[in-house]
Amino acid sequence: MKTITEVCSIFFSPTHTSKKVANAVAKGTGITKTIQHNLTIPPISPIYLASGTLAVFAVPVYGGHIPSIATERIKTVKGKQNPAIVIAVYGNRDYEDALKELAVLVRQQGFIVIAAATFIGEHSYSNAKYPISKDRPNKKDLRIAEIFGKKVFDKMIMSERIHEIDITQIKRPKQPIWSTLRFVAKVIQLRHAKKTIQKAPSILNVSACTHCGACAKSCPTQAIALGEEQVTDPTLCIRCCACVKVCPQHIRIYETPFSKLLSTCYSKEKEPQILI
Ligand SMILES: Cc1cc2nc3c(=O)[nH]c(=O)nc-3n(C[C@H](O)[C@H](O)[C@H](O)COP(=O)(O)O)c2cc1C
Repeated sequence: MKTITEVCSIFFSPTHTSKKVANAVAKGTGITKTIQHNLTIPPISPIYLASGTLAVFAVPVYGGHIPSIATERIKTVKGKQNPAIVIAVYGNRDYEDALKELAVLVRQQGFIVIAAATFIGEHSYSNAKYPISKDRPNKKDLRIAEIFGKKVFDKMIMSERIHEIDITQIKRPKQPIWSTLRFVAKVIQLRHAKKTIQKAPSILNVSACTHCGACAKSCPTQAIALGEEQVTDPTLCIRCCACVKVCPQHIRIYETPFSKLLSTCYSKEKEPQILI
């Protein structure tokens, strides 16, 4: 197999959990030359990976899928049949089709998927009142991520050629049936009630905004303009909650019935799964 001389972590990660996992996996490989491509914040320019590069792709799960903006941005990355690891990071509910979608996308971009994993990240809608997989990935998760990186690298150097994995073989998370039924029933109820869902985060106390610009700089879609931080363009906002989590004044909030619902239905913490 062609020698791998560098590892590149590539991620879309508004609240940094996918980034942490990707970087831990890259570190675990033990390859000293590391590069990072953060696809979260524009401008995004085309990326061409050298043939001796192992790629680590990580994205969050939105509604059981890869966020469409992450898909768009991964389409700017081109490989030359480089080996790749694909990782879906989800907020302790489920990841449905996201991992499969990521594997298909990465293959289309010129990579060979040699390993995959699912990790749990603190849910974007988690807050002090309704925590959802709080502080994940935690130390244990990141240790698992590093060991995973090492195992992938060890397998690569032992093999004569790169082997594509069958993504469907990854172990699915255990779903407690009652939690899922409760969740689905409540979602149907919410839909029937035609409750309006906040289109973008709001500001609790406008006069407390110091115009530090942290929210604008962290926004993946440029829905917040520097100097006009109190306004979020609802047509651009993807409700990733990056601005909510980064605000040093803690005045940005995104109120959604899903915070309470997910916190109560999915309080049992799930575990990462790997496939090599
Ligand atoms: C709009 C939206 C939809 C989400 N959908 C799901 C989902 O279907 N399943 C799940 O378990 N978590 C879901 N999450 C939670 C994220 O996948 C999770 O918080 C992830 O760790 C965020 O990654 P990041 O920190 O890299 O941004 C969703 C979050 C957002 C903002």
